[in-house]
Amino acid sequence: MKSRLEQIRERALSQIKDCDTAEKLNELRVCILGKKGELTDLLKSMRDVAPEDRPKVGQMVNEARAEIERVLEENKARIEKAVREARLKAEVIDVTLPSSRTEMGHRHPNTIALEEVERIFIGMGYEVVEGPEVEKDYYNFEALNIPADHPAKDEQDTFYVVSGSSEGGNGVYDILLRTQTSGVQVHEMEKGRLPIRMIAPGRVFRSDEVDATHSPCFHQIEGLVIDRRITFADLKGTLAEFARALFGEETKVKFRPHHFPFTEPSAEMDVTCFKCGGKGCRFCKGSGWIEILGCGMVHPHVLEMSGIDPEEYTGFAFGMGLERIALLKYEIDDMRLLYENDIRFLKQF
Ligand code: DAH
Repeated sequence: MKSRLEQIRERALSQIKDCDTAEKLNELRVCILGKKGELTDLLKSMRDVAPEDRPKVGQMVNEARAEIERVLEENKARIEKAVREARLKAEVIDVTLPSSRTEMGHRHPNTIALEEVERIFIGMGYEVVEGPEVEKDYYNFEALNIPADHPAKDEQDTFYVVSGSSEGGNGVYDILLRTQTSGVQVHEMEKGRLPIRMIAPGRVFRSDEVDATHSPCFHQIEGLVIDRRITFADLKGTLAEFARALFGEETKVKFRPHHFPFTEPSAEMDVTCFKCGGKGCRFCKGSGWIEILGCGMVHPHVLEMSGIDPEEYTGFAFGMGLERIALLKYEIDDMRLLYENDIRFLKQF
């Protein structure tokens, strides 16, 4: 019996030490110490042992059992540690490796041009403000002196959201997508804070077909200055300075008389072609000049409607198309390219 015990003990210990997974270790535990295990079996044959030897043999079996249990625990810890280490090794992250490439976007030519324009006007002390894209007829047309029968108010030109004209009114309650940013002038004047020196960039909407120079949704930048003793000389000096900052120091400006209902007098401003310097080329269609914005002295009636006394205050306003600036500045010949969002195109600017 003693030698059998020794045999079981030795085999068990060596099997346990060779064991490399938790499952196998558990199987061994059952085979040796379980109900039908070898050691349990051995205990059952105690009855064959002489009664005086039983305590001694019993003690030997218990000692062997205790030793096997201890070695099982030790090896369980060894296997768990090995598993943990293997996992850590497999999961290791080398932070010095180059990262997987992330595709970067690119600023849109409109955005680049807008930031340039904003930078110039902020430098001259202007504030950048915003107005609503969904607008009341009053702000888009009426408060800007645009009469009810003006062609721009036609449904062919304007996207109406809610139309009140069917109720026989004069369109005061009409809600529409703004066709110009000029309405922001009215919002700013109504605030009653003077003087005003602002630009207002934003989206505008017109019922236009898409082609190389038109889109139903495009952007304008509005400008407004109201203060005491503002004259056309201020308008001219400011916009000439703006043109030089945007297109280069040599740029000259020219004002052509024009008509806008909300300014009097009104003008359109041309700049000398920055491609040929004014000599005339394909870019400026041979004229040497490029049309860039509309402007004028704010009409006294427009001031009055917004609660500003035209006897005390005067001002000038201007408005330009952002896409037009971007197309000119970056020499893009088709406006549709600006809306396709092709990163290969956008990355050039
Ligand atoms: N709102 C005009 C348009 O869409 C542009 C414009 C012209 C704005 C003259 C102005 C201005 O502020 O003074 O055609």
